[in-house]
Amino acid sequence: MIRVIQGDITTLKVDTIVNAANQVMLGGGGVDGAIHRAAGRELYEACLKVPEVRPGVRCPTGEARITPGFKLPAKFVIHTVGPVYRDGQHGEPEKLAACYRNSLALAAENGCKSIAFPCISTGVYGYPIEDAAQIAVREVRAFLAASTSALCATADKKNAEMEAIFCCFSERDKMVYESIV
Ligand code: APR
Repeated sequence: MIRVIQGDITTLKVDTIVNAANQVMLGGGGVDGAIHRAAGRELYEACLKVPEVRPGVRCPTGEARITPGFKLPAKFVIHTVGPVYRDGQHGEPEKLAACYRNSLALAAENGCKSIAFPCISTGVYGYPIEDAAQIAVREVRAFLAASTSALCATADKKNAEMEAIFCCFSERDKMVYESIV
């Protein structure tokens, strides 16, 4: 199931929220800053323990890492790093799609039944909301369709479909998503 809301993602009582992080994964501005402020110092310490894959990079663009949510109402935070938008011709769409796919896969691996996404890459990283929202909805729909058909095959009713929430900070972003979902 997919829902679109307007609000502050740090207030959502879901199994996991997704953070639009940077590759260093030690906090920043925007939603990253809000999540770290709300989760508290332990989140920073948990991020510090995530191994660097190369100097200064804990989470490469397009990948995802999971930590506890600490003081947040959400159980987990999935940190993913969106692409910095240039012109859409330098692999940005593929990287943004990978953020959603890898975050969903990590959420499923950790038994999450509900996940909330911010509008990844559409703030500091400059991705046009209309293009980013199309990619986000397409990837979430594909994931839910695949997992639902797998559930039907196993008739595993207790494993209900994951709920995906697009948590938009602005009314404008919410309207863009509502025109697609
Ligand atoms: N709840 C939900 N959405 C939020 C919140 C919040 N509390 N705060 C900001 N947003 C929205 C922004 O309005 C934007 O729509 O999150 C979206 C993503 O914007 P950014 O946070 O700027 O993230 P991004 O564009 O992916 O840039 C990531 O910015 O904050 C730094 O450390 C971060 O370097 C990284 C870069």
